[in-house]
Amino acid sequence: MEEFIDITKPALTVSDALTTRHSIREFDNRPIPDNILQDIIQNSLRAPSWKNAQPWKIHVVSGEKRNLLASKLSNAAKSGSPNPSTAWLDSYPSDAKKRMFDLGMKIYGVAGIERKDKNARDEFMLRNFTFFSAPTAIFISSTFDLNFFVGIDLGCFVQSVLLIAREHGLGTCAQAALGAFPDVVSSELGLPSEEKILLGISLGYPKADSKLNQFHTPREPMEKLVNFYN
Ligand SMILES: Cc1cc2nc3c(=O)[nH]c(=O)nc-3n(C[C@H](O)[C@H](O)[C@H](O)COP(=O)(O)O)c2cc1C
Repeated sequence: MEEFIDITKPALTVSDALTTRHSIREFDNRPIPDNILQDIIQNSLRAPSWKNAQPWKIHVVSGEKRNLLASKLSNAAKSGSPNPSTAWLDSYPSDAKKRMFDLGMKIYGVAGIERKDKNARDEFMLRNFTFFSAPTAIFISSTFDLNFFVGIDLGCFVQSVLLIAREHGLGTCAQAALGAFPDVVSSELGLPSEEKILLGISLGYPKADSKLNQFHTPREPMEKLVNFYN
């Protein structure tokens, strides 16, 4: 039996936020109050980075702009191939491949999609670009040369957003997909060419009765991944 997690109930501690958070892929369209949005971003900017370099710029998109961008990104995804600013890996170790496959199977299963039904899978994938109906999308860009540590820095920022959002009873989905068409985002937000759009986060109130939102992804047991030494 899978544990039931009430993702609409705010997390009270960091551990609570960590252990109860999972990606939300069905949002209701209730807007996020400005003060909460500000709080999430302001506090996330406390994320650590290599030598305090803070290699990020954050673009918070709501309202009309969000709708316009969702429509342009969806069109780009329907008609073109991804052109991310940093290459997506195309090969993974076999144990990771299994986890990725299991994730896909589980999500399609919960979404009621037959694995063989490519059209339905494509339709589901396209929901990335309408932010899974979230009222706000956060895009993260950098002017830095992209290396491993810049990636870690950005990851610290992203995780901060995910956790603080949980504290407010908000849901999130970190999305590499939102970095798939960086030109579309840059042009719509009027960003200079040196500002590389890398990924995004959909942010909003989780749709309460969604089965998809109930799926709490498993993790490998600690014994498999961690060694303690004395
Ligand atoms: C860097 C990054 C990129 C991701 N990109 C996507 C994405 O494009 N679309 C999506 O639906 N989920 C995306 N995810 C969510 C992962 O699939 C999810 O975090 C993972 O399966 C673990 O599940 P959980 O977030 O529910 O704990 C991404 C997560 C991270 C950290």
